[in-house]
Amino acid sequence: MTIRPYNKALDETSLMAMIKAEEGWDYADEPHTERYKQALDTSITYVAYMDNDLCGYSRSLSDGYLYLFVCDLLVMPAFRGRDIGRGLMECLYQDYPDFTAYVMSGVDEYYEKLEYKKEGSIFEVKKRTINHKK
Ligand SMILES: CC(C)(COP(=O)(O)OP(=O)(O)OC[C@H]1O[C@@H](n2cnc3c(N)ncnc32)[C@H](O)[C@@H]1OP(=O)(O)O)[C@@H](O)C(=O)NCCC(=O)NCCS
Repeated sequence: MTIRPYNKALDETSLMAMIKAEEGWDYADEPHTERYKQALDTSITYVAYMDNDLCGYSRSLSDGYLYLFVCDLLVMPAFRGRDIGRGLMECLYQDYPDFTAYVMSGVDEYYEKLEYKKEGSIFEVKKRTINHKK
């Protein structure tokens, strides 16, 4: 297995196809497609390859100094159970050893299996208009 930083020219087509095939992941569906492609490019994105097949990726955000937040982690079903997810997570703390990394979990059991420590939970901020006039 090879894990390396995402390269738009080399990886975008296969990566979007992998996401499209994953049930419940809508980044490759309209109206998200183009914005997600841009997000892949501006995020800290890694891809995993087995031979010549793209088989997984992670996408993270950082403040550049202290914290990393893993937003997306996906391994293609046919390649699961071969430590690819673990490898994608490990390369983050190899490349960013001074950062604290958090993962926005959709499957707590997996991260518990990796012996990560649960810290708080996540809320989506409600969109509403506040009247700032006094
Ligand atoms: C979750 C996911 C990334 C795991 O990837 P993977 O490459 O199959 O996982 P690994 O091979 O690194 O697994 C490492 C260990 O975790 C275990 N594991 C894998 N998926 C698990 C799950 N859903 N729940 C609990 N344990 C799990 C493996 O059995 C393995 O255990 P072992 O060390 O005793 O053999 C993959 O199943 C996936 O892409 N799922 C769909 C998308 C998703 O849920 N992403 C994460 C939320 S953002």
